[in-house]
Amino acid sequence: MTEPRPAPTVAIQAAQAPLVWHALPHAPLPGTLLGHMDEVPDGQALVRQVFAAEDSAQQHPFKLLLLRSGQNIRAYANRCAHFGVPLAARQEQLKFQPHTSISCNVHYARYRWSDGVCDKGDCEGESLIAIPLQVDAQGRIRIAQTA
Ligand code: FES
Repeated sequence: MTEPRPAPTVAIQAAQAPLVWHALPHAPLPGTLLGHMDEVPDGQALVRQVFAAEDSAQQHPFKLLLLRSGQNIRAYANRCAHFGVPLAARQEQLKFQPHTSISCNVHYARYRWSDGVCDKGDCEGESLIAIPLQVDAQGRIRIAQTA
């Protein structure tokens, strides 16, 4: 009579959930005002920061990027998919090709303007974290209520 064989060990890895903007540290609430369409020229990418409501002392900025192409405005967390650091700490450091791409100024990963996917660099195939927006009739840009 033979002993039953032990069941093979199966390595189970927890699937890593993709990051979403509202799970990032210091994320503001949906509905937070980010600016006005008049402040973002066509083809411009802007470095912005806002503060969560509970951060009344404004100690912990939530950093994001606003990109405008025509009447289309989009936002991404200012967080490179490579090392999780800002693509640019200040406006004058931000590198972008209007309507086409935006690049990290650390190791120069390049992301598509249209969807935030890295198409060149160390994190090719990964993405910036999109932040859904809504623009009201007066042109005010807010984080959308629906995530
Ligand atoms: S940290 Fe952005 S490309 Fe390396």
